Order: sequence, then C-alpha cells, then structure tokens
Amino acid sequence: MAESGDSRIRLSVDGAIATITLARPDKLNALDYGMVQALERAALAIAAEAGVRVAIITGEGGKSFCAGGDIEAWAALSPADFGLAWVRHGHRAFDALARLRQPLIAVLNGHALGGGLELAATADLRIAEEHVKLGAPETGLGIIPGWSGTQRAVRRFGPQTVRRMALLGEVFTAAEGLALGLVDAVVPQGQGMPAAIAMAERVARRGPLATQATKMLINAAEGEETERALEALAGSVAAASAELQEGLAAFRGK
Ligand code: COA
Repeated sequence: MAESGDSRIRLSVDGAIATITLARPDKLNALDYGMVQALERAALAIAAEAGVRVAIITGEGGKSFCAGGDIEAWAALSPADFGLAWVRHGHRAFDALARLRQPLIAVLNGHALGGGLELAATADLRIAEEHVKLGAPETGLGIIPGWSGTQRAVRRFGPQTVRRMALLGEVFTAAEGLALGLVDAVVPQGQGMPAAIAMAERVARRGPLATQATKMLINAAEGEETERALEALAGSVAAASAELQEGLAAFRGK
C-alpha cells in the first residue's frame, strides 16, 4: 500500500484491516499542516485498496489520541491562509476519512480535543479508553471548531452535546461520552486496540459490498455528500447491468 508520505502518520495493513496511527506523541499528536496532508493521502490509499474491509485510526503514546490542530502553527498563518489553506485542507482530509468506503473505527486511547474530537467524528464507530477526556476547547482560544466541529460533529453527536463542549467548554469523561453517544464503547486503559480489532473482525465478516453501500447510505442520510453518494450508487447499478455491455458493444460496432 502507498505510504502517507509523513512518518508521523503511519499506515499499516494486516489482512483486511488497515490502521492509521498518529505518531507525534511528544506534541500529544497535535496535527500540523504536513500531517493533515498525510492523513488525506492515507485515507485515499486505504480507499484504493480492495482487500481492506475496515480501517482503524488511533494515536501513539496513550495520553492523547489527538490534541487537535497544532496551536503553535497558527501563529505563522495569515487570516486568508487560515481559512483557505488550514481549514480547507483539514476539510479535505477529514472528508476523505469520513467518506472512506470501508467502515472506520477510532480508538481513542487518549484525549480527543478540538481537532482531535473532529477527527474522531469522521469514524463510523468510536472506542474510548476509560481515562480519556473529550472536548471542543477552540472558542476558549479565540478560534472556531473549524474542521467540521460545527457541522459533521453536530450531525453525528447532536447539537446540544456540541453546544455544551463548544460554548460552555465542558469536557466529558469517557463514561459521560458513552452516555451522550459520543463514543460507542468504553474499555480499560490499554484495551482500545484489542477491542477495535475484535470490532473490525466483526465488520469484516459481513458482506463487503453491502457493508460499504450501507455505510454510504447512512452517511447520505446524515447529509454526508448525499448527492454524490446517490450518483455513485446508481452508477454502480447501471455499470453492473447488461445495458452497459450492450452500449459498449454498440459503440465499438459503430
Ligand atoms: N498544539 C500544539 N502543541 C500541543 C497541543 C496543540 N494542540 N497540545 C499539546 N501540545 C504540546 C504542548 O505544547 C507540549 O509541548 P512541549 O512539551 O514542547 O511544551 C506537549 O504537547 C505536551 O502537552 P502539555 O500541555 O505539556 O501536556 P499536559 O498533560 O499538561 O496537558 C492538554 C494536556 C491536552 C490538557 C493540553 O496539552 C492542552 O490543553 N492542549 C491543547 C488542546 C486544545 O486546545 N486543542 C484545540 C486545538 S484545535
């Protein structure tokens, strides 16, 4: 499989399961611009891999899944670059993850804050280790939750839960996150990856085409590229029919 192009975004494949690991533990896996670009490349590499049935995303270090965007990097950005490069490129990377045809499982083996929570929101299923904290602290820093924290996160987590994190600065424990639907399972510290592999194997045993089409339809119901999902699914139906073969034969026979 293609590499992400940045050693801090590791990509590995074991059978039907691909794993993306954020590997910048000294900075709590905060994402700088290079890492964001590498995340997009990693997502595209996984999507292109027919043998991969399910993907996992996690962080290295055990303290933080991802502490969000690299706050230090913001200082060097002009307002135009902030909106057009930083935010927009984040959208491309996070959209590529959320729209992966394979189901994506996030292993929150440490805190998921700001951009880290938005990254977790790109996954279809989330497992949190019990020491994890979840929050959206951006407005306290004078910035907005701009990597889909006011959009996809609202669709997936519900507006009131996002309001409490983004407007009040509430930080939830893993147990509170489970009660609020921010995460789907809470496991003891260190047990996130084994739990994710068990979950991934369960997903991988199901019909791959049906699973991928169902993921796309659920995404579409949430407003995730609804129009394009309809065209993609209809395109596959048409391409699988005899009509396309007849059309091709007629074209070739002039
Ligand atoms: N951007 C850049 N660097 C970050 C970072 C971020 N979002 N989050 C943590 N770091 C860095 C720290 O600056 C520190 O670097 P240093 O060792 O070179 O000084 C290192 O990661 C460790 O973080 P530290 O703050 O010392 O750990 P802590 O255990 O005391 O606190 C947090 C952990 C998560 C509570 C704290 O790091 C934090 O609040 N981070 C910012 C989270 C945030 O607001 N994210 C929103 C951005 S979208």
